[in-house]
Amino acid sequence: MIGVFDSGIGGLSVLSALRAAFPRADLLYYADTARLPYGGRSPALIRRFAREAGERFAALGADYLAVACGTVSALALDEITTAARCPASGVIRPAVDLLARDGRRRVLILSTEATANARAFETELLARTPGAVALSLGCPLFVPLIENGYFSPNDPAVLSLLGRTLSPGQTFFPDAVLLGCTHFRLLAGAIASLFPGIPLYDCGEAAAGAVPAEFGRGDGTLRVLVSDAPERFRRAAIRAGGLPDGVEVEAIQQE
Ligand code: DGL
Repeated sequence: MIGVFDSGIGGLSVLSALRAAFPRADLLYYADTARLPYGGRSPALIRRFAREAGERFAALGADYLAVACGTVSALALDEITTAARCPASGVIRPAVDLLARDGRRRVLILSTEATANARAFETELLARTPGAVALSLGCPLFVPLIENGYFSPNDPAVLSLLGRTLSPGQTFFPDAVLLGCTHFRLLAGAIASLFPGIPLYDCGEAAAGAVPAEFGRGDGTLRVLVSDAPERFRRAAIRAGGLPDGVEVEAIQQE
């Protein structure tokens, strides 16, 4: 079974891509909604959350783990992989592979604050494309905004917040914008309106392609688990268009 992890609804796009690529795969999506958002937490706490999430996937019998969270990929991929006791991949390397393939050299990286501070995308980009230049912008309000259903490119409140947060990125004149948090795909329309003509790369879309085909065999089952407030998650996921029809959202037992 392939496990897919995010703090909230962001990783649902990775789940959809995996269902499309591997219709027979058994899939388990787990969102740590009790502790979302991760992006304003300290590295030590994110590592602890990642270990605990990994242990949960191990207990549930995951054979492969797709880490569909930029923040955990940036700060705690080793921790979650070790705890899950199965092979795993995150979003950093697959996203940078696409940028390198397309020869992008001046990249604006949008992410949570923790990911921006860790400079994980930047480090990987510079290793792959010597001479590349990156500007990382932490966007602390984007995940709460998206989880609460504010992502329309026509919403003046969304555009006003994005305009303030992203103005240093506009004067950087990037040749590519990397959405380095899986939630940000939902803001793609609004972000694109601030960067006309500049290609956007979504780390979640890239990540789905990193899962080896050998793990895509099974009976096509799907479970969706959250650590708190399943009904709230279900509503947010439906608004985001990421919950397959008829799928129940289960809450894990809190001790
Ligand atoms: N989707 C997560 C990411 O890619 C959001 C992290 C958070 O909860 O702040 O970073």
